[in-house]
Amino acid sequence: MNKSIEIHKISSEMTLNLRREILRNNTIESNLCHFKWDKHEKSFHLGAFNNKKIVGIISILNTSTKTNNIRRLRGMAVKKKYQKNGIGSKLISRAEEILVSENIFLIWLKAREKAINFYLKKGYRKIGEPFEIINIGIHYYCEKKLNK
Ligand SMILES: CC(C)(COP(=O)(O)OP(=O)(O)OC[C@H]1O[C@@H](n2cnc3c(N)ncnc32)[C@H](O)[C@@H]1OP(=O)(O)O)[C@@H](O)C(=O)NCCC(=O)NCCS
Repeated sequence: MNKSIEIHKISSEMTLNLRREILRNNTIESNLCHFKWDKHEKSFHLGAFNNKKIVGIISILNTSTKTNNIRRLRGMAVKKKYQKNGIGSKLISRAEEILVSENIFLIWLKAREKAINFYLKKGYRKIGEPFEIINIGIHYYCEKKLNK
């Protein structure tokens, strides 16, 4: 399956259905799944396509109004039946390649406890103590320094 997966840049609107389904358990409307900074000119979104259908997403957000070399990873999700097939790895690797080409040196995120081992395997490290996000659960701040 992994071989037939293609990664492309997509609009933030194209992430909404999967954000709703996988990250919000279909509990809220997809038009409430927008993130602040989705539309910043330096933010971007990637989709993993299987036969023209989006089965995975990742968003990289510029969360600062000042020029900076840091980005936030957010809204990473793979459709349930496609998980553990290397699609998340493809998405995160492609995002990091793009960031390196843009001279971004640090990426950070709030990782869900359930997904922390995925990020650790991808070279991210935990920062500080776990914390709770209401209605979602325990999270860890994580970061990765990107090398050229
Ligand atoms: C977390 C997620 C994006 C990973 O995507 P994926 O396509 O399943 O990941 P991959 O198949 O590329 O996995 C890469 C490695 O991480 C491991 N891994 C993946 N998800 C994991 C998880 N939730 N817990 C522990 N390990 C995990 C895989 O087993 C694999 O290990 P290996 O290299 O030793 O074989 C996906 O499982 C998902 O959408 N989960 C639900 C939503 C979520 O929690 N998103 C993250 C919000 S912070």
